Amino acid sequence: MTSTDQQPFLSVRDLKVHFSTEDGVVKAVDGLTFDLAKGKTLGIVGESGSGKSVTNLTILGLHDRDRTAIDGEILLDGKELLTASERELERLRGNKMSMIFQDALASLSPYHTIGKQIGETYRKHTGASKKEARERAIEMLKRVGIPQPDMRVDDYPHQFSGGMRQRAMIAMALVCDPELLIADEPTTALDVTVQAQIMDLLKDLQQEFGTAIIFITHDLGVIADIADDVLVMYGGRCVERGTKKEVLRAPQHPYTWGLLGSMPSLDGPVDVPLNPIPGAPPSLLNPPTGCRFHPRCTFTEKIEGGLCSTEQPLLKITDGRGAACHLTADQRREFFADYAATRSH
Ligand SMILES: Nc1ncnc2c1ncn2[C@@H]1O[C@H](COP(=O)(O)OP(=O)(O)O)[C@@H](O)[C@H]1O
Ligand SMILES: [Mg+2]
Repeated sequence: MTSTDQQPFLSVRDLKVHFSTEDGVVKAVDGLTFDLAKGKTLGIVGESGSGKSVTNLTILGLHDRDRTAIDGEILLDGKELLTASERELERLRGNKMSMIFQDALASLSPYHTIGKQIGETYRKHTGASKKEARERAIEMLKRVGIPQPDMRVDDYPHQFSGGMRQRAMIAMALVCDPELLIADEPTTALDVTVQAQIMDLLKDLQQEFGTAIIFITHDLGVIADIADDVLVMYGGRCVERGTKKEVLRAPQHPYTWGLLGSMPSLDGPVDVPLNPIPGAPPSLLNPPTGCRFHPRCTFTEKIEGGLCSTEQPLLKITDGRGAACHLTADQRREFFADYAATRSH
């Protein structure tokens, strides 16, 4: 089956990933639904521990299988991944879907040359000869902007700078032209200039190959740069979804307002103080009842009958847009306008 207009390239439906631990069940992902089309970038944003990495490791089939209860559906180009065998997943990884992580040094082997590592991935999926694989590795290094690729191909990872290692990891991830690339905080460890270069590179490669990208970050500034659509995660759930413009310009969920408040304004004055969201992310062993954000939310008293602490707000998505909050649409507009006014003065 191939994807059509009706059927998105990647479709995640009511995904739940629960880990059994000595302390109890950790509900790391608890009912997550989203779609991604070919050639588009979905930014997943949320504080540390909100379930971003677990979601994406589960898509790749790299999650910890022991003592893990998984429910829901993950369809990649019509293929159900949650019921796929380890062998099928192995074939899809690197070939159809692939990933880059924050820590390139930990993802690359220190004992093999960069060229060998890129080439082996290529050989594994294509059956190419060693010579062909080496040529492909050089071509990929060139494509990701490594100078003198025909010489650097024989370097070991420690001979590369941090930014170059990240480029090498991207080269390895893209060597088999995957249709889905998952980038989990790939630029977090890099300085701002290199970060910008890597993001430009990903955008160029996406243009060239039409890759669908999931870009995970805790930084809305990065989202502003790279995403088409945005999914805001809190406590293992999606609290808000929309296009980048919708989420950044007219966010509807108090948690998203909090995230925006904790980053420098995109176009406002630079001297507006940053306000980190008070309180800590929720325990996923014992998540708060009702809205998981309610213990940190400053708007709960606006809702009659203490609903925020007793009833989980539903995420209603219309045309890709929605937020899970008990505030009415009018209240959201009013409170966000108040909030935005305090940010621009
Ligand atoms: N194998 C595991 N066993 C138990 N808990 C886990 C496991 N993997 C992740 N978690 C927990 O799941 C939650 C979500 O983690 P993660 O997806 O890594 O967060 P994020 O990437 O958003 O920072 C965290 O509370 C984390 O401690
Ligand atoms: Mg993570």
